[in-house]
Amino acid sequence: MTSKIARFALAAAITLTIGSVSTRVLGHGSVTPQKVDTTGLKPLGDTWLTVNPYRGDPVAIKIGMSAYGQNCARCHGLEVISGGIAPDLRYLDAGEAGDEWFIGRYQHGSARDGKVFMPPFGPVLGQETGWAIRSYLDTVHQE
Ligand code: HEC
Repeated sequence: MTSKIARFALAAAITLTIGSVSTRVLGHGSVTPQKVDTTGLKPLGDTWLTVNPYRGDPVAIKIGMSAYGQNCARCHGLEVISGGIAPDLRYLDAGEAGDEWFIGRYQHGSARDGKVFMPPFGPVLGQETGWAIRSYLDTVHQE
């Protein structure tokens, strides 16, 4: 027999547990890619390009900055300053020289020996978002 009080206590305990679990997940940063609104960017179709079609476009840079903050900063660092858990993306080759390497990593992520170092973003966020992030990264590039 479950009394009303016991049922109430159980419900409260479950609520508390769910509450603390979701706080914990948020605290560590969820790894689910966050959809990005690419309104204002020219659609690029299904074939992945190897050169950034948006370079220098202020709209792309703005979208890319926000997309970076939502999807990349938790590993690569706020404002692209790495805290050491993932490479510092300010030092990627700038411009065309680094485009293909960048988009390959973005699209496929990185895994070795069955361990995922970086999840793939291509299938979920698409190349428009990838090239927007690349446009932003070019603006913070360091030699
Ligand atoms: C879960 C953590 C994580 C997230 C989130 C993440 N990365 Fe990475 N990324 C890594 C790690 C770790 C590496 C190094 C991989 C290796 O050593 O193979 C890496 C490597 C890279 C590289 C190659 C860097 C180099 O110096 O060669 C690029 C480019 C890159 N990430 C872009 C991105 C972008 C863009 C995003 C957001 C859309 C992103 N990453 C999100 C962890 C992450």
